[in-house]
Amino acid sequence: MSAQIINGKSIAQGIKKDLKTIIEKLPLKPGLAVVLVGDNPASQVYVRMKKKACQEVGIESFSYYLDNTTTESDLLSLLSKLNKNKNIHGILVQLPLPKHINASNIIKAILPEKDVDGFHPLSPHIPCTPAGIIKLIKSTKVNIASKKAVVLGRSNIVGRPVANLLIKENATVTICHSYTRELQKETLQADILVSAVGRPKIITENMVKQGAIVIDVGTNRVDDRLVGDVDFDNVKNRAAYLTPVPGGVGPMTITMLLKNTIDSAANQYDFKYK
Ligand code: GUN
Repeated sequence: MSAQIINGKSIAQGIKKDLKTIIEKLPLKPGLAVVLVGDNPASQVYVRMKKKACQEVGIESFSYYLDNTTTESDLLSLLSKLNKNKNIHGILVQLPLPKHINASNIIKAILPEKDVDGFHPLSPHIPCTPAGIIKLIKSTKVNIASKKAVVLGRSNIVGRPVANLLIKENATVTICHSYTRELQKETLQADILVSAVGRPKIITENMVKQGAIVIDVGTNRVDDRLVGDVDFDNVKNRAAYLTPVPGGVGPMTITMLLKNTIDSAANQYDFKYK
């Protein structure tokens, strides 16, 4: 039996269509500030995709491309202006930042309600990649409650928040990382396996439980091609559901960013669309 492939691109398209309709009903045009510091090629691609997605649904995007010599205090003063700007409902600072800028200071300087990435400790928004992952798992109609979920990776952007969301859905969750002993023993227990490690094909067929849901968050560049953490061609013989790379988690992350921006704009005017 071959896994059912979870088509993140098509699920994201469906959500974007709904978001476009919501925006048409809003009394204002939502605005997203996109800040990119430096010339990281992958970040440039992501920022371009985020801006394009904004345009698709009717969110105004404001771009700030700053060079590598930008200081932490330059960036903090830009954020202070963006925090005050009434036309901007969401602020996104693309990570990673250059080494001389402390990312934690920057995240904390964003007004929590405008932190549409959901990285600020007081942000009301759910982080985009984890929110997208939960939607992908739910698209299978498999009940998350009581399942054993194993998350590979403990980053603040994916591993930790996705583990929290899975706990909220009443899964039993294990987080694995570089110090985990007997990784295969852990992953073989997983009814739901989420890999956010960043190593091509680290998840092999013999690490996957028969019938598992496998979510591949890896975005690794190999010979100019994007490949995930999962050895897709072999794991598909074991898993019941599997996300592809590209076309799995990536499009959902961007769509959740749009949703958070719309929520933020609607909230500013106390506009209820839900
Ligand atoms: N870098 C990798 N993923 C993300 C994300 O979701 N948001 C931002 N701002 N930077 C990232």
